[in-house]
Amino acid sequence: MSRRFGLVGGTVVTEDGVQASDVLIESGRIESVGQIPPSADIEKVDVRGKIVIPGGVDVHTHLDTPFMGAVTSDDHASASRAAAVGGTTTYVDYAFQRPGERLPEVLGRWAGRAGGRSAIDFSFHLAVTSPYPDLVADMALVVADGVTSFKVFMAYKGLAMLDDGQLFSILDESSRLGATLCVHAENGHVIDVLAERLVRAGRTGPLAHMLSRPPETEVEAVRRAIALANMADAPIYFVHLSTAGAVAAVAEAQRAGRPVSGETCTHYLLLDEDLYHAPGFEAAKYVVSPPLRGREHREQLWRGLREGTLGVVSSDHCPFCMDGQKTLGADDFRRIPNGAPGIEHRVPLLYGHGVRPGRLSLERFVDVVSTEPARRFGLYPTKGVIRRGSDADLVVLDPQAASVVLAQTMTQNCDYTPFERWHVPGRVDAVYLRGELIARRGRFVGRQDAGKFLARRPA
Ligand code: URP
Ligand code: ZN
Ligand code: ZN
Repeated sequence: MSRRFGLVGGTVVTEDGVQASDVLIESGRIESVGQIPPSADIEKVDVRGKIVIPGGVDVHTHLDTPFMGAVTSDDHASASRAAAVGGTTTYVDYAFQRPGERLPEVLGRWAGRAGGRSAIDFSFHLAVTSPYPDLVADMALVVADGVTSFKVFMAYKGLAMLDDGQLFSILDESSRLGATLCVHAENGHVIDVLAERLVRAGRTGPLAHMLSRPPETEVEAVRRAIALANMADAPIYFVHLSTAGAVAAVAEAQRAGRPVSGETCTHYLLLDEDLYHAPGFEAAKYVVSPPLRGREHREQLWRGLREGTLGVVSSDHCPFCMDGQKTLGADDFRRIPNGAPGIEHRVPLLYGHGVRPGRLSLERFVDVVSTEPARRFGLYPTKGVIRRGSDADLVVLDPQAASVVLAQTMTQNCDYTPFERWHVPGRVDAVYLRGELIARRGRFVGRQDAGKFLARRPA
């Protein structure tokens, strides 16, 4: 690819701050950030009045993934188109181990699902659900293949949950390998007791999902995992944090100098637990784990992002259709597949409802949707930043325009979105992957097989 062109006249968010600048692109890379002389014989794309940011990096997705009796409704093809439309140019998907499967096999299976089908660049984490005697040796093999992060679950008993000893061993080994351990922190034992009680009391609808997972089930698990990480002298990264207590626990560990970090997700920042009171089975749309929380939690999540306690906002894109998938749990909330779609709207929602109302600065927004996820997961500075030599993954945002989220017109493959009819200030106008235009005002215009697998470095 040898096209040389410049995005001229925009407001560019770089590591040095927000500046009026041009961006020169050559052969898929950023050639320079500065002033392109008007006389220069270069193709120019006028982005006056627009904001130019690095492409979004979504480090938490579940594509084409069998989970709780269903397979997520987006595969790597459809989700990557949706990501592109919404300003995300890289994702890191969770490859899920089947019981008895060795890690290199899981990786092979996942590479087969994604290879040649993704429109944007991608990588994998490996979710360890079923430890086996040679696990430690196999962890080293997948790290050598560029999969430098693992996930473990402290919930989903009988499906994915590990015990504390297993968690400790994997923390220990990840640390030795320089890999990042991502932890789903909820107390699965307590959740199962509460859920059983609710069902026995006839509470079988989606509201009971929230009731069975009170904030303490997350906070206790976060504190326990931090204690285990301290014992193993290992770094730890918490996925999808939802509570004020979890933010406080992470902040406390950070103040004590521990290498503890965490992410939250778009839905925990913007949606309220009141949604579980929707009539009938409607609330199944919001059955995600951990569940949505109240306002006091959201405020602390925003604060955690502003202050740097939390470094990343991911989508936890895990879509299941209402029709035929969520309905698996029509008679028992415990069988509703957990998850919701979100890859398409993460960047626009964080801009429109994070930056515009003043919850996040423009620089911090770029940090949490792009730079820090790239840094944390070994993709920086190829990804996550506008600087000379980085991939020309660029998003042009129009701050004057706006959009409305509608399931009917979205690109994600799901029959609903939890953000239906949300008005979003700002609009993703153009998206470039390595210098190629891949999306234009809500339309995917790229190549379906343009995405490359990214082998990642240990942190
Ligand atoms: O509800 C969720 N988050 N489903 C996806 C699986 C997970 O725990 O990330
Ligand atoms: Zn999880
Ligand atoms: Zn997830």
